[in-house]
Amino acid sequence: MTKTEAINRIYFLRKTLEEHNHNYYVLSNPKISDFEYDMLMMELDSLEKKFPEIDKTSSPTQRVGNDVSNNFEQVHHKYPMLSLGNTYNTEELIEFDSRVKKIIEQNFEYVAELKLDGTSISLTYVDGVLTKGVTRGDGIKGDDVTANVKTIKSIPLQLKGNDFPKEFEMRGEIVLPHKVFDKLNAERIERGEQAFANPRNAASGSLKLINSAEVAKRNLDCYVYYMIGGDLPFKSHFKNLEKAKEWGFKVPSQITKAKNIGEIAEYINYWNTERKNLPFDIDGIVIKVDDLDLQDELGLTAKSPRWAISYKFKAEQVETELLSIDYQVGRTGAITPVANLKPVQVAGTVVKRASLHNADQIELLDIRVGDFVFIEKGGEIIPKVVAVNIKKRENNLEKVQYISTCPECNTTLVRQEGEAKHFCPNEFGCPPQILGKIEHFFSRKAMNIAGAEATVKLLFDAKLIENISDIYYLTPEKLINLERFAQKSVENLLESIENSKLTPYPRIIYALGIRNVGETVAKIIAKQFNSIEKLMLASEDELANINEIGQVIAKSIVNYFNNPLNKQIIERLVSAGVKMYDDEVNNLFSTKLNNLQIVISGTFEINSRDELKILIEKNGGKNVSSVSKNTDFLLAGSNIGPSKLEKAEKLGIKIISENEFLKMIE
Ligand code: IVH
Repeated sequence: MTKTEAINRIYFLRKTLEEHNHNYYVLSNPKISDFEYDMLMMELDSLEKKFPEIDKTSSPTQRVGNDVSNNFEQVHHKYPMLSLGNTYNTEELIEFDSRVKKIIEQNFEYVAELKLDGTSISLTYVDGVLTKGVTRGDGIKGDDVTANVKTIKSIPLQLKGNDFPKEFEMRGEIVLPHKVFDKLNAERIERGEQAFANPRNAASGSLKLINSAEVAKRNLDCYVYYMIGGDLPFKSHFKNLEKAKEWGFKVPSQITKAKNIGEIAEYINYWNTERKNLPFDIDGIVIKVDDLDLQDELGLTAKSPRWAISYKFKAEQVETELLSIDYQVGRTGAITPVANLKPVQVAGTVVKRASLHNADQIELLDIRVGDFVFIEKGGEIIPKVVAVNIKKRENNLEKVQYISTCPECNTTLVRQEGEAKHFCPNEFGCPPQILGKIEHFFSRKAMNIAGAEATVKLLFDAKLIENISDIYYLTPEKLINLERFAQKSVENLLESIENSKLTPYPRIIYALGIRNVGETVAKIIAKQFNSIEKLMLASEDELANINEIGQVIAKSIVNYFNNPLNKQIIERLVSAGVKMYDDEVNNLFSTKLNNLQIVISGTFEINSRDELKILIEKNGGKNVSSVSKNTDFLLAGSNIGPSKLEKAEKLGIKIISENEFLKMIE
């Protein structure tokens, strides 16, 4: 066989095998016998071995995986992998519908889908070839699991047809079908290994195996639910998924269009009972606005899109006895009542404690010590008490008297308007709060100071640190007398503390432990106020006007910096050399929009809304969400919301087009 003949035969075999693969794994409709399939595969394998110079990265022979250990590289997602807001009842769905209608003010359709309970994956295709498979990770960056993903037979390595964008991503869920899960667990038990608690854990565990040949044996399956990229075939989510099916992806057949919440409620009821007959687990339903332009118009909140929501089915409930209630104090002073329960098995684990949330919840459910309660383990790791079995209540049980003073420091608790929880206000004198704040500061996602847990408690008990700034004033002399602290550990700790001074600015903001400021919010405010001095001067209105930041967050930031003790801590951090500003300032394209507040609304010809937002920020401006007297420009595209336009005109705010905007920053 000449090389040209071999190349032709290889391409023919690859195409034929992928076709049969698709018939078998995606369409469940095999056209040839397993034997015939194996013969073709063997022929391809031997030809590829004879001509190793022919690239085989997307060949079906690669689906068996290999024995090379994967060390998963972390890669940035081109588009962040967001999560979804949750709803649990029809009222919440109706609220979602009203929020959507308030923004888009025109007719539109929803798409209703199953919410598959597996592990999410992002698949990148370039010129129709699978080039990358990345896990969700933290949504911004995930693990590159390409080698493992290639072993999943329902994921096409090479797309069919030729009308796909040059580059795009398919998002989906990797699941372990019930049959495969049961078989896998039976084998594990036989070998004396621990069984997986549920198919979701088994799927995510399998995807992260370091040996792709082992992954191939797990028989994972993948369903796709979202296409993303610059040049998609349609402006409709539903149509794009139909297209994805043509290209060879497995799209769940249960997906449907819905005109209104009534139709969605019917879909939910149907699948709530029918889900037991599906071959895989689902934990709810996902509802999406179909039109991509409208999706764009609705935009995103900090963690999830405004154009989609999930409806979660009720989790498994189990009854047990409530023995007593403890009250825990968190690092922000929040009090959480915790139920001590008679141990009981729920969703594969033994549960002894469960959250009671807050005083209102106890009151609402009228929970009493000695009651038989129902507990539930939902998506969260900590189980919760959801109801009382009143029928079993004995007569003499007393109502719970919620505590009025802190169980740790005896300070009178406060409860601010709009807050569900009681707080201990003794921020600087209540031991679990002080310790909790320091532990948070040390933690991996914050200042990442090595060996945190053990060290913090030791330093705190020895009264060497009373607040986060003290750690930068530790000296070898102070440390060396500590029990269990050898010369080497002292050096390591001090080095790690020194290095932490250069932690990126957004992480420092997160590390401060301001109430309601998690990682995502910290990044957003760090971008808008690129030094701690600027952030400390920010008013509540200025903060609340930032896209994705609400009044509650704004208030807690301002409260934090108004506190003289916090001010002092910040001063000490700055004096110690902690870099509390962002170098990114130097990476600005220009300062042409310096401090200008710009609202974006409508759809645009040249740039996407996200790109425009970046352009505003890179030129020193601020993208804000709503039009107010402080707005400088309204950047208007087509289909702009009439209410925004009207408000801008009324306040005399200048309205500019995309072209005018681009001229401004030229
Ligand atoms: S859409 C922006 N659709 O649920 C689009 N997600 O909490 C966000 N999931 O991590 C995702 N089935 O892994 C979408 N039909 C479906 C889904 C689905 C399961 C998972 C997904 C995501 C999580 C969102």
